[in-house]
Amino acid sequence: MCMDIDAAPRISARPSTGFAGSVPDLVAEIDVAGCACLPDAVDEGWIDRVRSYAATLPADRHDIMIEGAGAAQLGFIRELTSDPALGELAESIARLACPDADPADRQFDCALRAVSGPAPHRRPLWLHYDASVLTVVLPVDVPDAAPGRSGELVLFPNHRPYRRWVLTNVLEKFIRQSDGYRRRFQRRARWGVDTEVVAMTPGNAYLFWGYRSYHATLPCAPGTRRVTVVLHYKDVHAGSRFLRFAKAVRALPGR
Ligand SMILES: [Fe+2]
Repeated sequence: MCMDIDAAPRISARPSTGFAGSVPDLVAEIDVAGCACLPDAVDEGWIDRVRSYAATLPADRHDIMIEGAGAAQLGFIRELTSDPALGELAESIARLACPDADPADRQFDCALRAVSGPAPHRRPLWLHYDASVLTVVLPVDVPDAAPGRSGELVLFPNHRPYRRWVLTNVLEKFIRQSDGYRRRFQRRARWGVDTEVVAMTPGNAYLFWGYRSYHATLPCAPGTRRVTVVLHYKDVHAGSRFLRFAKAVRALPGR
C-alpha cells in the first residue's frame, strides 16, 4: 500500500466516549463554526478494524469509494449504525436543524473512502453538496504532512439554504458541481475568510451540514493515504421521484 507508515495512528489514548453531546450546543456550533467535533467518539479497536479492511483495497488507485449496499454490509459500518446513541443523536440534531425533513427517514447512507496522494494534476477540488442534512466524518488514517497536503476537510459552511424545490437543488448541483464552476470558485474564494479547514484526528467524529455546505477534501501528499468513514443522515428530499429519476439519468453509461 502507498500509506505513509509515519501517518498511521494518531489516536487518543483516552477511552472512547461514544456519540454523546448537547444537541442545541452541537447545532449552534455547526451553525456558527461550520463544523463540530465529538472527541474520542470511537475506540481504537474500531479504528483498527477499518484500517485492516482498508489495507486490502487496491494501492494503485487514487480515489476509492465504497458506498450504498456495498458499504452497509461491512461489519464495522453495521456496528456503527446500529449504535442507538448515534441514531438518537443524529435524529435529534437533524430534527432541530431541518424540521421539514421526513421524520420517517432514519437511515444512514454510509461510505468508506480512501484517497491517496498525489492528487491528479490540474483537477479542481471535488467541491460538492451532500443530499443529507447531517454529514459525519470519522477519520481512520490521516496523512502526517504539511497543512494543505494532509487531506483536511475544507468547508464553505452553510453556503446555501435548504431548497424547497427539488428542481432548484438539482439545477444548482448540476451547475456548481461542474469542473468549470469549481475552478472559478477556487480561484475567487477568500481562503481563510469564507473557508473552514478541518484537520482531523482519528477517533474523533466531525459533524457538519452536508446539504448546506460546499465541501471537499484537500490533497494528500505523495505516498500518503487518507481513509475515512462517512455517514450521511436524513435525505433533505427523501422520497422525491424526480430526484430518483435525475440520479438514474446521471448514472447512465457514457455520462
Ligand atoms: Fe460530501
